[in-house]
Amino acid sequence: MKKILVTGAFGQIGSELVPVLREKYGKENVIAMGHITSPTPRLEEGPIVFGDVVHKEDLDKMIRKFDIDTVYHLAAIISAKGELNPQIAYKINMTGLYNVLELAREHALERIVVPSSMAVFGPDAPQDNTPTDTILHPTTMYGMTKVAGELLGSYYFSKYGIDVRGVRYPGILSSETPPTAGTTDYATAVFYDGIRTRKYECFLKEDTTLPMMYMCDAIKALMDLAEAPLKNLKHHTDFNVAAMSFSPKEIFTELKKYLPDLQISYKPDYRQAIADSWPRSLDDSAAHEEWGWKHSIDLPTMVKDLYEKLSARLEK
Ligand SMILES: NC(=O)c1ccc[n+]([C@@H]2O[C@H](COP(=O)([O-])OP(=O)(O)OC[C@H]3O[C@@H](n4cnc5c(N)ncnc54)[C@H](O)[C@@H]3O)[C@@H](O)[C@H]2O)c1
Repeated sequence: MKKILVTGAFGQIGSELVPVLREKYGKENVIAMGHITSPTPRLEEGPIVFGDVVHKEDLDKMIRKFDIDTVYHLAAIISAKGELNPQIAYKINMTGLYNVLELAREHALERIVVPSSMAVFGPDAPQDNTPTDTILHPTTMYGMTKVAGELLGSYYFSKYGIDVRGVRYPGILSSETPPTAGTTDYATAVFYDGIRTRKYECFLKEDTTLPMMYMCDAIKALMDLAEAPLKNLKHHTDFNVAAMSFSPKEIFTELKKYLPDLQISYKPDYRQAIADSWPRSLDDSAAHEEWGWKHSIDLPTMVKDLYEKLSARLEK
């Protein structure tokens, strides 16, 4: 039976990935590791630990104590927060991943799953249908740590035989945790402000098209890749995965079907430059060919589901 440690488990993705992993592998076999924030009530239904991924001994202790063989390494400082504090982003993203990979080598762990991001691309990559294999010249610290992380993961695979796998996520929308630190967070924040006040000020321009994905597809992507037969994989740590692309104006128009009196204003800030350096759409044919990836949720379905879940919660 697998014994899984999830770092960054109390964040946006971890809060929804951990319950799905627990359903599949058993509650006691999925250890949710948090840092300084509080877990959602659902996470408290199984084992929870606290630690800092920058401190290798914290991770070492947990791997030994729970006899871990697989790590989903989600702890990171993401795009917008990383640009506000690049030094912290470097330390947590690079040292955290290095510690996980070194412990995988020392304990001969079975598998490391680590999400990358479309932030690996910079302004000189093709912006439409950006391929998995292309120029990687990111302009953000976050993007640089993700490129280095992909390369490190591939190095540990070829040098030490550690099975490291990862997808490049687009922006992810979800209902479980409020948006905090991402450049694509406007797309979720509009639901919170819109439902509460019928007003939203967007920090990106109305026509800034970016690749996006609903959380259930994001979880499916990571778990499907984690389970794929190794012999089928030519890539390992750097699969583009795609679902939809839209601009602020397009998602706001969709949301206005449920909130017709929603008022939108635009005040682009430092996050506009980050968004402008990223692709408009991603080519995920490598993921499709090597492990059968296919998304299932489109924009109208996602907006309906998010609206129903968040309005039920926020209007209480
Ligand atoms: N959410 C997205 O849209 C998105 C898009 C692309 C890639 N990703 C990637 O997916 C992964 C998870 O992202 P997320 O959206 O859940 O991020 P998040 O910011 O919601 O969660 C990250 C978690 O890491 C924890 N953390 C920070 N520093 C830590 C430390 N020193 N030790 C231990 N934990 C620490 C934080 O407390 C937080 O709970 C990251 O690798 C991120 O780069 C996310």
